[in-house]
Amino acid sequence: MRIDIVTLFPEVALAPLSDSIIRRARAAAIVEVVGHQLRDWSEDKHRRVDDSPCGGGQGMLLKPEPLFAAVEELRRPETRVILMTPQGRPFKQAMARELAGQEHLLILCGHYEGVDHRVVETLVDEEVSIGDYVLTNGALAAAVVCDAVIRLLPGALGDERSPLDESFSDPRRLEAPAYTRPVEFRGLAVPEVLLSGHHGKIHAWKEENALARTRRNRPDLLE
Ligand code: 6GU
Repeated sequence: MRIDIVTLFPEVALAPLSDSIIRRARAAAIVEVVGHQLRDWSEDKHRRVDDSPCGGGQGMLLKPEPLFAAVEELRRPETRVILMTPQGRPFKQAMARELAGQEHLLILCGHYEGVDHRVVETLVDEEVSIGDYVLTNGALAAAVVCDAVIRLLPGALGDERSPLDESFSDPRRLEAPAYTRPVEFRGLAVPEVLLSGHHGKIHAWKEENALARTRRNRPDLLE
């Protein structure tokens, strides 16, 4: 897979992808990730990429010309073009799985108050948001999407553990609580059943506690 990220802050997008599991996936050529400076496509002598909104309003918008030039240079027939924006479709594990099946992602990062809508209408396959809060910078959101997608690529997780038995693989349940050694710590014991070796009882305990945790932290998933 190849991922191109076009942003005013390529170092912000790439920093979280330069360590640990994702760094190793890149080193093993499971994925190629390239960051691009949007200003490199500015025609302006001051390298400006933003302007004020037509009809008035707060803040600045990304101008269409540099984004069109960037996409036209980087796009191939198989490319999926994604725009990171708080106005986008919510990013979920199902979308991560779907994107992990693509050959080429081109991720555009919004900044300021947004981007000229002709970019969305003409160039973008999908507007994507990572949640209901506002970040200063779409590059951070792009890194989140890349991390979630890359760890799903075959071979990306060091061990042979497939990313199946984890939160959001079943989007209606969180994972059960988990414990490791020592079995007693500061008077706090690991639940007896988890030490029993009784797989049926352990499974039942996990189901029950996964449900309790979901009820407490994510009641919306049970509706
Ligand atoms: Cl994709 N961008 C920004 N700036 N803020 C966000 C977001 C994206 N998703 C959630 N908040």
